[in-house]
Amino acid sequence: MTNTVAIGIQWGDEGKGKIVDLLAPKMDVVARFQGGPNAGHTLVIGDKTTVLNHIPSGILHADTLSLIGNGTVVDPFRLVEEMDMLLAAAVPVSERLRISDRCQLILPYHRALDAAREAAKGKARIGTTGRGIGPCYEDKTARRGIRLVDLTCEDLDARLDENLRYVNFMLTEFLNSRPVSREEVTEALDLARERLLPLAADVTLILHRHIKAGDRILFEGAQGSMLDVDHGTYPFVTSSNTVAGAALAGLGVGPGHVDEVLGICKAYTTRVGAGPFPTELYNAEGMCDAENSGKHMAERGHEFGATTGRPRRTGWFDAVVVQHAVRINGVTGLAITKIDVLDGLAEVKLCVGYEKDGKHLESIPADCNALETCTPVYETLPGWSENTFGATSLDQLPDSARALLRRIEEVCECPVTMLSTGPDRDHIIHL
Ligand code: GDP
Ligand code: IMO
Ligand code: MG
Repeated sequence: MTNTVAIGIQWGDEGKGKIVDLLAPKMDVVARFQGGPNAGHTLVIGDKTTVLNHIPSGILHADTLSLIGNGTVVDPFRLVEEMDMLLAAAVPVSERLRISDRCQLILPYHRALDAAREAAKGKARIGTTGRGIGPCYEDKTARRGIRLVDLTCEDLDARLDENLRYVNFMLTEFLNSRPVSREEVTEALDLARERLLPLAADVTLILHRHIKAGDRILFEGAQGSMLDVDHGTYPFVTSSNTVAGAALAGLGVGPGHVDEVLGICKAYTTRVGAGPFPTELYNAEGMCDAENSGKHMAERGHEFGATTGRPRRTGWFDAVVVQHAVRINGVTGLAITKIDVLDGLAEVKLCVGYEKDGKHLESIPADCNALETCTPVYETLPGWSENTFGATSLDQLPDSARALLRRIEEVCECPVTMLSTGPDRDHIIHL
């Protein structure tokens, strides 16, 4: 038995979709445990690109069951769209997918609240994906959320009336926004009833049957550790726990069922949305370093959000972030992606510590403002001019690229077990 949690350990978009799709043929089950349509996981197989928001990245494999766990939030419109996209590509999604009847539904008023709150915040906005994630998790915690199973409950109408009264008061009185109609909500619920309820199941029970049979499970995270609501750059985070531990609560399994934690990170760093980013070099607001290294990463790495299309901010690999992630997740191996994007840079830097007010910081400060004003301490390594794109063995890499990997392993105190050299499923080196 080797059950693996695969998670992002930076600020999201580390290449989780690619790595999970690659590992999926060895897995009997791939299960998502948190997040929702804020995620955008890209799978590239030959000339075909698939972007998944809710559906686990193992869905393209015939012998792998895909599960959406109780810890997730599901938007009926978007999930049905995603299912239809797969059906159009001849993927028998109804046979391969089950959705927890306990998962929370994102309803039109969650999206309206998300948008209105961001607009009201102005310059202080978080830069959310606008998918209603925060308001939906808020309702879950406040115990007024509507779950998939609640579509069959008798008191649904009364609960919705109550929710709409509250939401529309907030929207119109506090947020200077238009109210959400009952019809908009009914449309979402009807769609969920028609297309999602037939796939609803006790996902925890299904998972445990597979565990009992000795099957292999892959727990697929969304977002990244620095976006975790407890351990990330609060308040510039998402509204769920994104760490490996969330796999347990988000699916209903005990800690003894996890054998490995694969921490996925880029060979540099990106972030989309607002919030501190100590090693940032380049962004759409005009920030640019003298050597244009950040621009090189953005352009060569095609750094645009898979969900929103927004340009991503780019910067050097931050080992303080990865050390933090190794600790809070119990990472047993690193999967480094996009090493090919660094091809052609004369020098490559690693941030190995922060300084603040003349003092060395050992870990990430809890206060966002303190993190914002930290100065990164860099180690500079030689870059390389060779092409690593698509390499499939370590001996195809230049010495400098190998030296970078060794240094990452030393500084982060964690072995690199996979190295991704391009977007395609086949662009991989197993170490
Ligand atoms: P996720 O959210 O973690 O699944 O990552 P995204 O799909 O949002 O973003 C990762 C992007 O990088 C996608 O466009 C991938 O196709 C691409 N990608 C993944 N691994 C590599 C790699 O090793 N090299 C290059 N050049 N692109 C990669
Ligand atoms: P994947 O799974 C990158 C970011 C948003 C914003 C913050 C809060 O593809 O890695 P939210 O809509 O969740 O309330 O937004 O979190 N964010 C992501 N950034 N990748 C993601 O998912 C993200 N999901 C949310 O940009 O800064
Ligand atoms: Mg993504």
